[in-house]
Amino acid sequence: MTSPFFIPIPADRYNFEQLANIYNESRVDYIVPMPMNAKRMADYATQYAVDLAASVVAINKEQQIAGLGMLGVRGERAWITRLGVIPTRRGRGIGQFLMSKLLENAVSRGCIHAQLEVIEGNEPARTLFSKLGFIETRRFLVLRRPPGNPPDFAFPVTVEPLNHLEIETYLVHRCDHPSWLDETPSLLAGGAVAVEGVRVIQESGESGWGVFRPTTFQLSHVTMGAHEQGGALSAELALAILTAIHHKHPRRDTKVENVPENSPLLEAFGQIGYMTEFARIEMGLRM
Ligand SMILES: CC(C)(COP(=O)(O)OP(=O)(O)OC[C@H]1O[C@@H](n2cnc3c(N)ncnc32)[C@H](O)[C@@H]1OP(=O)(O)O)[C@@H](O)C(=O)NCCC(=O)NCCS
Repeated sequence: MTSPFFIPIPADRYNFEQLANIYNESRVDYIVPMPMNAKRMADYATQYAVDLAASVVAINKEQQIAGLGMLGVRGERAWITRLGVIPTRRGRGIGQFLMSKLLENAVSRGCIHAQLEVIEGNEPARTLFSKLGFIETRRFLVLRRPPGNPPDFAFPVTVEPLNHLEIETYLVHRCDHPSWLDETPSLLAGGAVAVEGVRVIQESGESGWGVFRPTTFQLSHVTMGAHEQGGALSAELALAILTAIHHKHPRRDTKVENVPENSPLLEAFGQIGYMTEFARIEMGLRM
């Protein structure tokens, strides 16, 4: 249902503070509170390739700002994010109007596939996306680990820091299938804080790498791979890499988003104190 009463305004007509305010207003009652400020919104746009000219603020027939939706674009793939309608303005077609405009903008930029994630249990949003033809593709877990020293290494290892070139090389050749948030361009995009990395070498010679984004209080985007076996990590090596990361930053809280529910790495995350906070469903649409 698109309506002649609603007006789409390209999001690049607003500054990041205004966009953060609209976003926060549309999420005051959200299942998982994730408030943003201008700086976080600006970093988010950079890290996740948000095309602000293709992102939309919706104005309702009373000329009020009613909602927001953002579009990330990478090649032929589009990602829909930050969608929200201000609670008192819901149920009148604004959400569907925003989605239609975002999909139209994606097609006009040459995209043939759209993807998004929705928190499990968010029935209004999941129903909206299904109505538009999105199909569920994967289930992800969002993990959290409180600050604290990890247990000692289970066996002797050598830990070395990675330089930026090594980080880039490992990420470019990784063999996992991350969500949009953890794709290599998300990790390498400037943003506010550079990524850091470690190499862990076991006595057996088996070795792997871990890359993560450190901010003042939190680590995020933890990504790992092995040097052998086509990049697939054993649970033992994954645990050693996580131990090395948390030895280096014992005082930071850690959030790892969108780990596929069937990931072989989940065992290692659990062993070192990560807990599941909530689940997300990834959905996709061929356009
Ligand atoms: C999800 C959201 C954007 C929908 O916006 P909205 O303007 O209320 O939705 P619309 O009026 O355009 O409804 C379009 C369709 O969405 C679905 N829908 C909307 N609200 C629904 C509800 N409460 N329960 C079930 N389905 C619902 C229906 O399929 C509806 O079509 P219909 O009217 O023909 O039944 C809004 O509820 C919201 O902002 N929620 C909080 C933020 C959020 O969840 N964002 C998405 C994160 S992935």
